Amino acid sequence: TYVVTEPCIRCRYTDCVEVCPVDCFHGGPNFLVIDPQTCIDCAVCVPECPVEAIYPDDEVPADQQGFIELNAQLAARWPVIKRAEPPPADADEWMAVPDKRDLLED
Ligand code: SF4
Ligand code: F3S
Repeated sequence: TYVVTEPCIRCRYTDCVEVCPVDCFHGGPNFLVIDPQTCIDCAVCVPECPVEAIYPDDEVPADQQGFIELNAQLAARWPVIKRAEPPPADADEWMAVPDKRDLLED
Protein backbone atom coordinates (compact mmCIF):
# COMPACT_ATOMS: atom_id res chain seq x y z
CA THR A 1 0.00 0.00 0.00
CA TYR A 2 0.94 3.64 -0.24
CA VAL A 3 1.08 5.91 2.81
CA VAL A 4 0.44 9.62 3.37
CA THR A 5 3.05 11.13 5.70
CA GLU A 6 3.66 14.24 7.77
CA PRO A 7 4.24 16.86 5.02
CA CYS A 8 0.53 16.64 4.12
CA ILE A 9 -0.53 18.03 7.50
CA ARG A 10 -2.03 21.52 7.10
CA CYS A 11 -1.22 21.44 3.37
CA ARG A 12 -3.95 19.03 2.25
CA TYR A 13 -3.75 20.00 -1.41
CA THR A 14 -5.92 17.00 -2.48
CA ASP A 15 -4.29 16.74 -5.93
CA CYS A 16 -3.71 13.09 -5.02
CA VAL A 17 -7.41 12.41 -4.70
CA GLU A 18 -8.20 13.41 -8.28
CA VAL A 19 -5.99 10.72 -9.81
CA CYS A 20 -6.68 7.73 -7.58
CA PRO A 21 -8.52 5.13 -9.67
CA VAL A 22 -10.02 3.33 -6.68
CA ASP A 23 -10.98 6.23 -4.38
CA CYS A 24 -8.95 5.03 -1.44
CA PHE A 25 -8.23 8.43 0.07
CA HIS A 26 -10.07 9.35 3.26
CA GLY A 27 -10.17 12.95 4.45
CA GLY A 28 -9.84 14.47 7.90
CA PRO A 29 -9.81 18.15 8.91
CA ASN A 30 -6.22 18.93 7.85
CA PHE A 31 -4.76 15.66 6.55
CA LEU A 32 -5.59 12.80 4.22
CA VAL A 33 -4.88 9.10 4.54
CA ILE A 34 -4.88 6.08 2.22
CA ASP A 35 -6.93 2.99 3.03
CA PRO A 36 -4.43 0.11 2.82
CA GLN A 37 -7.27 -2.32 2.11
CA THR A 38 -8.27 -0.45 -1.04
CA CYS A 39 -4.98 0.88 -2.48
CA ILE A 40 -3.85 -1.08 -5.55
CA ASP A 41 -0.28 0.26 -5.51
CA CYS A 42 -0.61 2.05 -8.84
CA ALA A 43 1.64 4.92 -7.67
CA VAL A 44 -0.05 7.59 -9.78
CA CYS A 45 -0.75 9.74 -6.72
CA VAL A 46 2.91 10.08 -5.77
CA PRO A 47 4.00 12.73 -8.32
CA GLU A 48 0.78 14.69 -7.85
CA CYS A 49 1.56 15.73 -4.29
CA PRO A 50 3.27 19.16 -4.15
CA VAL A 51 4.92 18.30 -0.82
CA GLU A 52 5.94 14.74 -1.69
CA ALA A 53 4.03 13.30 1.23
CA ILE A 54 3.17 9.92 -0.34
CA TYR A 55 5.43 6.87 -0.15
CA PRO A 56 5.12 3.14 -0.77
CA ASP A 57 5.00 1.46 2.63
CA ASP A 58 8.43 -0.12 2.21
CA GLU A 59 10.03 3.27 1.52
CA VAL A 60 8.48 5.36 4.29
CA PRO A 61 11.28 7.38 5.97
CA ALA A 62 12.46 6.06 9.32
CA ASP A 63 11.01 8.99 11.25
CA GLN A 64 7.63 8.56 9.55
CA GLN A 65 7.01 4.87 10.25
CA GLY A 66 4.12 5.65 12.60
CA PHE A 67 2.13 6.96 9.67
CA ILE A 68 1.75 3.45 8.25
CA GLU A 69 -0.50 2.38 11.10
CA LEU A 70 -2.03 5.84 11.36
CA ASN A 71 -3.24 5.70 7.74
CA ALA A 72 -4.96 2.39 8.43
CA GLN A 73 -6.55 3.63 11.65
CA LEU A 74 -7.83 6.94 10.33
CA ALA A 75 -9.04 5.45 7.04
CA ALA A 76 -11.41 3.31 9.05
CA ARG A 77 -12.98 6.42 10.58
CA TRP A 78 -12.71 9.23 8.08
CA PRO A 79 -14.99 9.50 5.02
CA VAL A 80 -13.82 8.77 1.49
CA ILE A 81 -12.81 11.88 -0.44
CA LYS A 82 -13.22 11.52 -4.21
CA ARG A 83 -12.84 15.06 -5.53
CA ALA A 84 -10.25 17.75 -4.96
CA GLU A 85 -11.15 20.41 -2.43
CA PRO A 86 -9.62 23.86 -1.91
CA PRO A 87 -6.54 23.55 0.33
CA PRO A 88 -6.33 25.52 3.58
CA ALA A 89 -5.79 29.23 2.90
CA ASP A 90 -2.35 29.09 4.53
CA ALA A 91 -1.31 25.74 3.00
CA ASP A 92 1.70 27.17 1.18
CA GLU A 93 3.08 28.54 4.44
CA TRP A 94 3.16 25.01 5.87
CA MET A 95 4.87 23.34 2.91
CA ALA A 96 8.41 23.48 4.31
CA VAL A 97 7.57 23.33 8.01
CA PRO A 98 8.98 20.20 9.74
CA ASP A 99 7.62 18.43 12.82
CA LYS A 100 3.92 18.98 12.14
CA ARG A 101 2.78 15.69 13.65
CA ASP A 102 1.20 17.28 16.71
CA LEU A 103 -0.88 19.57 14.49
CA LEU A 104 -2.83 16.71 12.93
CA GLU A 105 -6.51 17.17 13.73
CA ASP A 106 -8.62 14.09 14.17
FE1 SF4 B 1 -4.75 5.43 -5.07
FE2 SF4 B 1 -2.84 4.35 -6.60
FE3 SF4 B 1 -2.20 6.19 -4.79
FE4 SF4 B 1 -2.98 3.74 -3.99
S1 SF4 B 1 -1.11 4.24 -5.14
S2 SF4 B 1 -3.64 5.71 -3.15
S3 SF4 B 1 -4.49 3.24 -5.59
S4 SF4 B 1 -3.49 6.51 -6.59
FE1 F3S C 1 -1.85 15.74 1.16
FE2 F3S C 1 -0.29 15.85 -0.93
FE3 F3S C 1 -2.62 14.76 -1.18
S1 F3S C 1 -0.56 17.46 0.57
S2 F3S C 1 -3.86 15.87 0.29
S3 F3S C 1 -0.98 14.00 0.10
S4 F3S C 1 -1.64 16.06 -2.65
